[in-house]
Amino acid sequence: MSKINENFNKLQSGYLFATTAKKVGAFSAANPDKKVIKMSIGDATQPLAPAVIAAIKKAADEMGTLEGFRGYGPDFGYDFLREVIAENDFKARGVDISADEIFISDSAKCDTGNIQELFSTDLTIAVLDPVYPTYVDTNVMAGRTGDYNPARGNFDGIIYMPASAENGFKPALPKEVPGLIYLCYPNNPTGTTLSKSELSTWVDYAKKNGSLILFDAAYEAYISHADIPHSIYEIEGAKDVAIEFRSFSKTAGFTGTRCAFTVIPKGLTAKDASGNDVSLHGLWGRRMSTKFNGVPYIIQRAAEACYSPEGKVQLKQTIDYYMNNAKILREGLTAAGISCYGGVDAPYIWIKTPGDFGSWDFFDYLLANTAVAGTPGVGFGNAGEGYLRLTAFNTTENTLEAVARIQKLKF
Ligand code: MLT
Repeated sequence: MSKINENFNKLQSGYLFATTAKKVGAFSAANPDKKVIKMSIGDATQPLAPAVIAAIKKAADEMGTLEGFRGYGPDFGYDFLREVIAENDFKARGVDISADEIFISDSAKCDTGNIQELFSTDLTIAVLDPVYPTYVDTNVMAGRTGDYNPARGNFDGIIYMPASAENGFKPALPKEVPGLIYLCYPNNPTGTTLSKSELSTWVDYAKKNGSLILFDAAYEAYISHADIPHSIYEIEGAKDVAIEFRSFSKTAGFTGTRCAFTVIPKGLTAKDASGNDVSLHGLWGRRMSTKFNGVPYIIQRAAEACYSPEGKVQLKQTIDYYMNNAKILREGLTAAGISCYGGVDAPYIWIKTPGDFGSWDFFDYLLANTAVAGTPGVGFGNAGEGYLRLTAFNTTENTLEAVARIQKLKF
């Protein structure tokens, strides 16, 4: 008789973005005459950069020749890509990360979801609330949490760190010390950021208490202010306490192309049951070679092209395009009397639902009355109740239209 992993039974409803997409799909089917503007999942809409397309074509041509054909690639990614990443994303910012500390993968979602496999199921995790749901759900699946607590509306055995307008979206350091701390900055879903000195307090906390920070920097390319760190390794001492996740999805429109990377410094360790220090770089490497067959050569060449002089200019143009949408949303909704957060150093706008609307009620109301789809804040956690997330990833035409439709509403 086969038996399931009972931890899956603890999960609540569907995965947030799948649930939202289902509701939007049902609305579209029932209202075929209405043009739905999707500002729910953060999916790219703008074409890949010409430099990226040229690299894909060239690599595809190479693969069609006897000399240029490649089979399995190196387990942790091609050196040509790991080297340009180390050079441009880290060394250029004065951060000492070497190419062999970079693991190429297909997704920051997969890596942030899978990294917990390296750690004991006894560890307590701390997450921001609201939070990107993958961090919580993967720990639930692994049995690292208690049951869902219906009275509280979240899981026992997780330290939730609320972030809302009341604390300026800057959660307090946890009183109970967690083994693992998930941080995402620029933040998904609130679009807010931490300055270097604010992030330093987390690094100091982790050092002092023996915690490990899992730092998701998938949105770093959207930072416009100089005092916001792009990498946690810009903070002194972070190499001893942090793993960082990056992605080409939002940086280069690779949501359908798939390439990302995870940085694990070679000196970073965690204890085994006998108290010995074990290299996390070694463990992740072991996991990758066992469970992952790598990102296609053609796609790694595409990612490499993001760092060419013309690639950098082209990517920046697309990021500016999305950030102009963010500005349109922020300014247009503020003019309609809606409080907005984020959207300055991140492509997400976190809006306070007007009046007494709860998150799901406002999601339904907006969809029914404007055919604009967002993501209900409470879907990211209790502290997200009373908020709704909109993304800046649509076209400018649709963004302007969404704002005009919302401005016509009376609350
Ligand atoms: C989001 O909308 O939060 C993201 O697109 C989800 C993801 O990157 O997996």
